Amino acid sequence: MPDHLPRRHVLRTAGALGLGAAAAGALTGPADAAPTATTVASMGSHHGRLSIRKDPFGTTPEGVGVDVYTFGNGRVTVSMLTWGATIQRVETPDRRGRTENISLGFDNLPDYAALSPYFGATIGRYGNRIAKGRFTLDGRSYQIPVNNGENALHGGTLGFDKKVWKAKVVQTPSAVGVAFSYVSPDGEMGFPGELTTTVTYTLNKQDDLRIDYHATVAGKPTVVNLTNHVYFNLAGEGSGSIDGHVLQLNAPSYTPVDEGLIPTGEIAPVAGTPFDFNRPTAIGARIRDDHPQLVIGRGYDHNFVLGGKPDRDGLRFAARFWEPEGGRTVTVHTAEPGAQFYSGNFLDGTFQGIGNKSYRQGDAFAFETQHFPDSPNHPNFPSTVLRPGETYRSTTVYSFGTK
Ligand code: BGC
Repeated sequence: MPDHLPRRHVLRTAGALGLGAAAAGALTGPADAAPTATTVASMGSHHGRLSIRKDPFGTTPEGVGVDVYTFGNGRVTVSMLTWGATIQRVETPDRRGRTENISLGFDNLPDYAALSPYFGATIGRYGNRIAKGRFTLDGRSYQIPVNNGENALHGGTLGFDKKVWKAKVVQTPSAVGVAFSYVSPDGEMGFPGELTTTVTYTLNKQDDLRIDYHATVAGKPTVVNLTNHVYFNLAGEGSGSIDGHVLQLNAPSYTPVDEGLIPTGEIAPVAGTPFDFNRPTAIGARIRDDHPQLVIGRGYDHNFVLGGKPDRDGLRFAARFWEPEGGRTVTVHTAEPGAQFYSGNFLDGTFQGIGNKSYRQGDAFAFETQHFPDSPNHPNFPSTVLRPGETYRSTTVYSFGTK
């Protein structure tokens, strides 16, 4: 059915989707009204069938209910939690049509709260590090609680990844997903200004998972750097090392770091170093080279400065990851100037994930599109300041495929 024709909205039961009967009884209205309990599905044709359902996932110790939204297009299925606006599962077929979950996560809320190294979470108010948690803005000093050695990481001790977000179903003829919102009060985690954030995750029929970030601040200027911290293993979550994944990264330079993984301020060319992925190269090919930056990071844990011009909807090609055996690919386009390529160096096998497998060092990668770490302390980096009256907008697209 062409996208412009009206589609038939049908209710499907939980059982029909094979996802348990917990919410199967409740009826919902038309797809553009927020579903009250269970499944709202929009039937397509062979072009792809968009569907979305909602189920309870858990309750926080404070008694707040957390839901899981599962949306799909008949080929790719994404599950997202209202806890941290978190991508919990991403199921995609490999070259032979075998569908597996390729994203690291947990099957229960207590593990997210206690153990998660930001698996799939929406990160804010400031993604990656701020040196010593300190910065000044318009002559005033601010202190973010430190949680990574002497530095603040991913928004401080209680970042956006540990908040329960409001969720609203988004459904158009060509895409389905969830808009998550969170209001961060003035002074939360030491950041100035009340920040209202909406992050909309949608999956279309072309297997693009699109993330649209939107934020405004009231009362005081602030700094904002939002990202998502999904970890992928394209051979399937828990299947071992990603050393054999091939990466093409569109970055002529990167920002070297000190021992605490804080950028030195230098923007260094990648040419002639193990940081040059401009031509597709296996992640593991040089990861144990004696380059001092790889020693400091225990692998790749660096911000890359993206190159080239926006080539698709105002977004530029940032990276493509390819797992040669099963053939899965993920291609990233973004409006952001940088991306943290993290090769899962701090995974240490101490807990089991969603498939009951331990995650060890190098078992997954994250590619966190972003402004550069510690920008508030580096005037030569693109600014992360957001002032009242301005709107923060950014988009990143993860496109799934096979090759
Ligand atoms: C950081 C890593 C950190 C990881 C998980 C990445 O964004 O750069 O150093 O270990 O997130 O917390």
